[in-house]
Amino acid sequence: MSLVPKVIFENALVHIPDFYEKGEKRVIAIELMTSHLNIDANELLKNTMEIDDSSVYYQNFLADLNRIEKGEPFQYVEGEVKFNGLSFNVEQGVLIPRPETEELALWVEEELNGKVGKGLDIGTGSGCLGIYLGKKLPGLNFICLDVSGQALKIAEKNADLNAVPIDFLQHDFLDSFPSVDQLSVIVSNPPYVTLAEKDSIRPNVLEFEPSIALFPPGPDPFIFYRRIEEFGREHLEPGGKVYLELPENSSGTIFKIFNSNKWTNKKLKKDLFGKERMFRAQLA
Ligand SMILES: C[S@@+](CC[C@H](N)C(=O)[O-])C[C@H]1O[C@@H](n2cnc3c(N)ncnc32)[C@H](O)[C@@H]1O
Repeated sequence: MSLVPKVIFENALVHIPDFYEKGEKRVIAIELMTSHLNIDANELLKNTMEIDDSSVYYQNFLADLNRIEKGEPFQYVEGEVKFNGLSFNVEQGVLIPRPETEELALWVEEELNGKVGKGLDIGTGSGCLGIYLGKKLPGLNFICLDVSGQALKIAEKNADLNAVPIDFLQHDFLDSFPSVDQLSVIVSNPPYVTLAEKDSIRPNVLEFEPSIALFPPGPDPFIFYRRIEEFGREHLEPGGKVYLELPENSSGTIFKIFNSNKWTNKKLKKDLFGKERMFRAQLA
């Protein structure tokens, strides 16, 4: 049987779970149709093409739609996300990069333009922060560190994909500090979701994204931030900087954690939604 784009589109919308907003559902349906059936938004308007529902393309489209219907994040199904215009592979086992992390990367890029030295990305996941910055700031050689071997495998692929020379390090940052050369910059988006916030997270995030990437262990949600502060004092060069993504409503706590007079030039930055989600400090 032959199907026209409008029918395929409307049928897809029915199968995309309701935890996606209406606009998101439309984007997902069009992306799936574009990648499998070569039907983009223009073609949808024209509605002239006909797709054979027994074709391999259509069956693959249905298979992916089925994964989405079962709750798997769209980005895992597609296998790729854009991070400030660069492509990153993602699959289960690695956190899907978030828009606020893109904003953090842009802030670092803007402030460290032309900088030469070494950088460390703590909890690199897909490698989005370290690889993006390594690409945009070629004077900085980044080490991307993660405790998860699965995440590092994907990050290594992403470094190749973007042709960025990166050193990778599998290390448990809460267990001990890695031995690294003096650093010019530390960036991190560490796990920071509290168990109390678990209920407000979309079910498909909890089910499919790695919990080690979301939740810090133990009762202290700021454990990574305290460790990074201590590590930064020991391993940054004078004038070196640390840039961190923050949980919401944590500006008071982060200033308390970075209260040593060894830190100067402390600054919070708001994201596009006006929330203070980024922090920078500089070693005196
Ligand atoms: C919030 S995710 C951030 C991933 C990526 N940087 C991003 O922004 O999309 C936190 C990362 O920290 C890693 N992680 C968790 N515990 C860790 C530990 N003890 N030592 C090192 N990395 C850890 C997780 O595997 C995960 O990749």
